[in-house]
Amino acid sequence: MERTYIMVKPDGVERGLVGEIIKRFENRGYQLLALQLLTPTKEHLEQHYADLKAKPFFPGLIQYMLSGPVVGMVWAGKDAVKTGRKMLGETNPLASAPGTIRGDYCIEVGRNICHGSDSVESAEKEIALWFPQGVADYQRNKSLTQLIYEN
Ligand code: GTP
Ligand code: MG
Repeated sequence: MERTYIMVKPDGVERGLVGEIIKRFENRGYQLLALQLLTPTKEHLEQHYADLKAKPFFPGLIQYMLSGPVVGMVWAGKDAVKTGRKMLGETNPLASAPGTIRGDYCIEVGRNICHGSDSVESAEKEIALWFPQGVADYQRNKSLTQLIYEN
């Protein structure tokens, strides 16, 4: 099953939006495979955002991400990466449609509450980076979940 790495950023944790974000992924039918609250190190964040190292906003981004604990999650299910990104909204919250997480809860690109992997490949890299101990699969009870899992 496809997996994605979703992270509630420090402003999302500070504002008490963890439950709201989890609720949206649960309601949609995705399966929670891993969940952790941690205060990330600079080294971890620089690896996570390595692709953006040359951007002018990179130092500010790292500073923002170091401002408090984050909640990292692995969600699994059909088209988890692309649909997960749709649920988050656009990078710039002002371009995010109402009904998306960013479109409902923020207005600043530098305080946009949540992160979602942008490809299956980066999802697997991010999961390995943030959950080096590994993430186990588990079976959900078919009778409880068939409504959302039947094609
Ligand atoms: P993530 O899910 O956090 O990876 O966001 P994204 O994939 O929508 O955007 P991207 O990976 O390009 O940028 C990572 C993060 O850097 C964004 O979520 C923003 O918090 C921040 N960022 C991106 N572009 C800008 C910008 O132009 N200005 C500022 N201040 N921050 C930016
Ligand atoms: Mg990104």
